[in-house]
Amino acid sequence: MAVIIKDNIFVLETENTHYALASGINGIEHLHWGKKCNVEDYEYHELHEMNSNHAALDFCKTEYIQFGSTMYREAALKCTFFDGCRETVLDFIKAEKDGNTLRVKLEDPHYGLKVNLVYKTFEGTDIIERFTEFENASNNDIVLEKAASAEFNFPSLKPYCITNTNGSWGGEFLRSGHILKSGSLVYESRKGTTGHHHLPAIIASRNATEEFGEVFFAVLASVGNFKVSVTRDFTDKTRGIIGVNEFDFSKTLKPGDKSRTPSVYCGYANGFCEMSNMLSRFTINELLPKEFAQKELPVLYNSWEATGFDVNETGQLALAKKAAKIGCELFVMDDGWFGERNNDRAGLGDWFVNRIKFPNGLKPLIDGVNELGMDFGLWVEPEMVNPDSDLYRKHPEWAYHYDTREPSLLRNQLVLNMTKPKVFDYLLNRLDEILSEYNIKYIKWDMNRPLSEIGAENLENPKEIWQRHTKAVYDIVDILRERHPDVQFEACSSGGGRADLGALSHFDMCWTSDNTDPVDRLEIQHGYSLIYPIKCMRAWVTDANKDQRPITTDFRFNVSMQGSLSIGSNLLNLSDKELDKYAYYIELYKKIRRTVQFGNLYRLRNFKEDKIYFNGYVNEDKSQAVYFSCTNANSTFGRFFVNVRFLGLDENATYHMKSEWREMTKSGAYFANVGIEFDYSKPLESEIFLLEKV
Ligand code: DGJ
Repeated sequence: MAVIIKDNIFVLETENTHYALASGINGIEHLHWGKKCNVEDYEYHELHEMNSNHAALDFCKTEYIQFGSTMYREAALKCTFFDGCRETVLDFIKAEKDGNTLRVKLEDPHYGLKVNLVYKTFEGTDIIERFTEFENASNNDIVLEKAASAEFNFPSLKPYCITNTNGSWGGEFLRSGHILKSGSLVYESRKGTTGHHHLPAIIASRNATEEFGEVFFAVLASVGNFKVSVTRDFTDKTRGIIGVNEFDFSKTLKPGDKSRTPSVYCGYANGFCEMSNMLSRFTINELLPKEFAQKELPVLYNSWEATGFDVNETGQLALAKKAAKIGCELFVMDDGWFGERNNDRAGLGDWFVNRIKFPNGLKPLIDGVNELGMDFGLWVEPEMVNPDSDLYRKHPEWAYHYDTREPSLLRNQLVLNMTKPKVFDYLLNRLDEILSEYNIKYIKWDMNRPLSEIGAENLENPKEIWQRHTKAVYDIVDILRERHPDVQFEACSSGGGRADLGALSHFDMCWTSDNTDPVDRLEIQHGYSLIYPIKCMRAWVTDANKDQRPITTDFRFNVSMQGSLSIGSNLLNLSDKELDKYAYYIELYKKIRRTVQFGNLYRLRNFKEDKIYFNGYVNEDKSQAVYFSCTNANSTFGRFFVNVRFLGLDENATYHMKSEWREMTKSGAYFANVGIEFDYSKPLESEIFLLEKV
């Protein structure tokens, strides 16, 4: 782990990689990212214009490209200065090393804009953190119109495969891949949060599989709208820019103001699984709030699918009794407990217990849940307000609006302007009071629509709202955490709309998707697992939907046990036999939970390439491993053979393997290299293989 500064060459050294840059005539240029080389060998080459149409800035490997001069490609930074000048010219000042941090200091001396490119390495990982700092050292305002977190250059001149997801509500995280031969690919969010569509990440690979091959990745800890663009230019260079979206963005730096971009975490891996495991470990060790980062997540019960808005003390207690009996450790009451919330048309904003449903407040329910040996959690959606609510009747001006425009309702609700101090204080105080009054150990923070009509007359520069909204959410969560350190927070936005490393720096986990159909869920979980930890992926077992394909309880558990197992079924409708089955799987999950939530993940087969999903999870010391197989819903196999190599095991050790139908003892080398041949004959068959070191 080192930062090496040698004349005009700066090298970040991680466990296995180098990230090298240099200062020169075209600003800060990129030299190398990938496997370690001899530091002495790095050299800087001056690039000059190719011809009258192609100045050097058209094709050189810039490290943070500014708009202006002969630069016509996408910029990382664009500013407007007080006199109307829109060109930024950054001179290299110096490179400073502070422990594991490199700060490359740049300045536009004419306009007093200071810019630092910051790089940070960490013990025991190849991940590097990057962000950019700004300071207005002039007497005039400076307006940032684009301020990306980082620019990246990829070494090969051959085309890269760019992996991302193409999702929507109920179909989040659906993996996609494009070979980028020329032009640009853009993935972005313009809705105010990360949203359901794309990952705020660049994943550029060459000849890579889950197991092997070069994978470069850069993941944004997103705050509001993001944009990722990857380009292959006329000299066959592939580069990317990642950060806050310039869509309706600007940020004013007043004289003396300092600011910084969100962080990007980048790394280089051998195969997609190594990327996922590296990011997962890093997120758990460095980003997740410390209180719960190293703790296993409890098996929770959530009331939403069972009772919807129809919650009351008796009904919830009846569910809680069953939940406790099958082994749940936490009971979360979802929507419906407050204000006039009998459906989605009213109540949001009125964060006071509904006294018809809970005549004596929440205490009797919470005491009852606690007596059953479970913790209690509560759903909230603080950023929202229904026009049919006391809050809106009293403060219509608290919702985003323009006086001259009709506000757009989505799910009958509007969004509150979280940057107004009175809104912020109202929500903080209400939540703080609820957490102080009741023994609540878990908050599910939901957000069920994007921003619109985002007039923010309270801000001097209303275009800052897209980021400041999310920042206000994070600030409230941080303050609540400080005051109530024993409370866990789940980030939800109509399913997985708020899953990103920004949220995971303040929340402990994410709700993955409102789609709990296990077959769909395998695809959704696959995409989620690319860059987010399994530990932070809530996965509910819900009731079989009679209108859809019949899926067994075993299959449902098989899928949900591959995340943070949770239960959403209406337990009151289940037979004792079914409940026993739930109890059996929850008990089994508790035995393998550490391995699933913290272990290394091996995505061995998936439906896009095969008729089967086969994923493995191996714990840190390789003493336990668990593999899950799930056959596809649509196949009529007759008979279908699959040979699976159990990757990730200690090849020198002996393992005892047991599943419902198989049992054997063999060496890790055998399991990993010869593998086992299975034959399945039916769609929607599933099997759990538990391997313990002998
Ligand atoms: C959307 C969430 O994703 C669901 O889990 C549930 O909490 C509903 N909102 C409640 O309105």
